[in-house]
Amino acid sequence: MGWNSWNSFANIVNSQIVQQQAKALASNGMKEAGYEYVVIDEGWWLGERDGAGNIVVNHKQWPAIKAGEKDGDMANIAAYIHGLGLKAGIYTDAGRDGCSMYPDSGPKLLNTGSEGHYDQDFLQFSKWGFDYVKVDWCGGAKEGRSGAVQYAQIARAIQKAEKITGRKLYFSICEWGSQNPWFWGPGVGGIESTIWRTGGDIIPPVVESLHDPEHDKRVITAGNVLDSFDAGLHPEAQHTDYYNDLDMMVMGMRGMTKSLDRVHMGLWALSSAPLMVGSDLTRLSPDTLSLLTNREALAIHNDLYGLQPIKVDEPAPGVQIWVKPMAIAGRRAIGILNRTDASTQVKINWEKLGLKGSPKALRDVWNGQSIEGANVAVSVAAHDLALMVVDGEDKSPKEYAANQNSITGIQATRGFTFARLQYANTSGHLVVVPVKSTSGLFTALALPPTVGSETGTIGLILPHGTADLSFEREPVAIRKLDIYAW
Ligand code: GLA
Repeated sequence: MGWNSWNSFANIVNSQIVQQQAKALASNGMKEAGYEYVVIDEGWWLGERDGAGNIVVNHKQWPAIKAGEKDGDMANIAAYIHGLGLKAGIYTDAGRDGCSMYPDSGPKLLNTGSEGHYDQDFLQFSKWGFDYVKVDWCGGAKEGRSGAVQYAQIARAIQKAEKITGRKLYFSICEWGSQNPWFWGPGVGGIESTIWRTGGDIIPPVVESLHDPEHDKRVITAGNVLDSFDAGLHPEAQHTDYYNDLDMMVMGMRGMTKSLDRVHMGLWALSSAPLMVGSDLTRLSPDTLSLLTNREALAIHNDLYGLQPIKVDEPAPGVQIWVKPMAIAGRRAIGILNRTDASTQVKINWEKLGLKGSPKALRDVWNGQSIEGANVAVSVAAHDLALMVVDGEDKSPKEYAANQNSITGIQATRGFTFARLQYANTSGHLVVVPVKSTSGLFTALALPPTVGSETGTIGLILPHGTADLSFEREPVAIRKLDIYAW
């Protein structure tokens, strides 16, 4: 959760803008709500290196902020962001060239990528004090590289840098879904946590202060938001610490209405997608801000399992019921998405959510109130999203005990299927466990340590047809899988 400079500032990003945005984030309620990263995207570096290959930045763009600092040192802005109790993020490209600020107006600059300098650059970012790095793919794509290979090398460079500085550098992969990163993103290069972009840019940037005719005609539509959501659904790859990235948010930006803001916030929360807000935080309306900081929506987003929603019903074309299984037994978040031009009324069939009988409690997230009577019809306006949380009783799962860390005889026959996995990991640290299935599923799980004889539980969503699963054995022990066939 945080802010990223690209959508609203593109290549005009500089120290002053980042300071203003960081200050806004720290004082408008977003920090308290959990937004913590301030990420500087492309445009911070113009492609210059010194004789030793070190990145050289423009002194005017990144001057000293406090007494004793030197102009042209990125450590200044990282320290400023830290001073507000926030974390700092930076950006580079996996290839030799970056995106050359495409498609934005501005000079086309070459050599703004890190290829040939992975160890040097990621160590530099960490030494400057950055806590997060987004790695783009323009140069990699231009050179026809393999994303899985390049990003694994980068993951290893990041881990080396972390060992040297002792500072965690969160890895954000941005190759737009072009080489199916949901297959290789989880655990790439042994990384314990990462996000990977699943599609192209939600919009080209809209820099209001440029008064540039090209920017002025850019208006966000429902299609931008819904296409990013649709492209981002790869629920089988997403588990604790590995997430599909639906792209930076455009809440409140030009073209966004109140209902579209709700759709955007609700779908990103249901998906546990990174909430990296790309808007100008100094211009957010009270309505947009209250959606971004809605505690119940954020609780859905931050659910321990971090799973994506499953579409359980489409009672009329374009009226969709999305359900996110949550860590607490019998709890689900429900999004009723109305993609049509007409308002609609929907009665939920609890059976389709895997619940026994009628639920015990139902809450409307947007107004924070309980909904009385489980059989009410929920009204959803055109191009809007109702967001609710339900507590009920799970139908009994099918239980499969593990044998030597494989689980056989599984049948996931109902489309995407929710499962809980129990394991023991007494190694004292998080372990990345590769998982294979005879049906072709391949992923990795980041399993946190467990204590003594206690078992840990994580949530999974298995794709249709998932058959026998096997887990790399040491040092964790897989105990049991419960499959909830809705
Ligand atoms: C690509 C990325 C964007 C942004 C721009 C910067 O298009 O997908 O998120 O980083 O590059 O040029």
